[in-house]
Amino acid sequence: MKGIVLAGGSGSRLVPMTQVLSKQLLPIYDKPMIYYPLSVLLLAGLSDILIISTPRDLPAFENLLGDGSRLGIKLSYLAQEKPGGLAQAYLLAKDFLAGDASMMVLGDNLFFGNGLTPLLHQATASAHQGKSTVFLTQVSDPEGFGIAELDGEGKLISLEEKPEHPKSNFCVTGLYVLDGRASDFAEHLKPSKRGELEITDLLDQYLRRGHLERIVLGRGFTWMDTGTPERLLDAANFVQSVQKRHGTIIAALEEIAYRKGRISAQTLRDAGQAAINTEYGQHLLRIAQEKSLTHD
Ligand code: DAU
Repeated sequence: MKGIVLAGGSGSRLVPMTQVLSKQLLPIYDKPMIYYPLSVLLLAGLSDILIISTPRDLPAFENLLGDGSRLGIKLSYLAQEKPGGLAQAYLLAKDFLAGDASMMVLGDNLFFGNGLTPLLHQATASAHQGKSTVFLTQVSDPEGFGIAELDGEGKLISLEEKPEHPKSNFCVTGLYVLDGRASDFAEHLKPSKRGELEITDLLDQYLRRGHLERIVLGRGFTWMDTGTPERLLDAANFVQSVQKRHGTIIAALEEIAYRKGRISAQTLRDAGQAAINTEYGQHLLRIAQEKSLTHD
């Protein structure tokens, strides 16, 4: 399975912050936003990941993350000339995917919760059996999201993008685990009224065939879309509070890479040393010292 982080778009809801800088490079408390979605793909065990962004911002992502070797993974980069919609990512990534299943995460989405990794594995296993998966969570403002309608047994019935009259408050989060047909299905999509290839229309191709499953992220999980100033601040406060309370670091990429056995303790130590003046760096050094660490 391959990974995609979609980190382009105009960032229009965060102007003037996004006038010269990509939204997904803005800080969420102590690290760039893209660390959070990237950590999801690393937790899922993916090691071949494509980052899609604007021609303006792509060099900055490359400067930040390089070719992935310091995380023991392969990172590639691809420009999206214009924000043509989330489903366009699958057209752009057609050669990269080469018919493989994929996990795509939006560059401004934050997922946190104990037990996320097994759910990611469940979705990847399903994708290899021809079933694709969306992750749902309940929100108080469903008009602003993709919304899923479920029947009495919790089965997916329909999906609607930013509905005026939402049929539920189950939001489709920005994490999509699709089988190898995604690029082919995307080729049949028509732009919506707002001129975008909508992710909900792509997902609908799977739903109509009975090939779309859903995983509901319950109360033990936190999901945040960090695309407005208020949500950016909420996310920063959340990360600070969890990290402080538990003395840990959320989305420490090198830590995940180490626990997955992708990098050595020495590489982890080097990353910690390079950031020695930060909690992040000190956390990496602490992890490198732990003797009884399980690599999972
Ligand atoms: O966050 C979850 C929601 O994300 C879902 O519930 C919706 O179904 C989905 O359409 C999306 O809604 P948003 O209103 O948040 O989409 P937005 O246009 O903000 O784009 C989401 C991210 O993708 C954002 O970080 C920018 C990036 N993007 C967006 C577009 C349209 C791209 O990289 N390229 C694009 O063409």
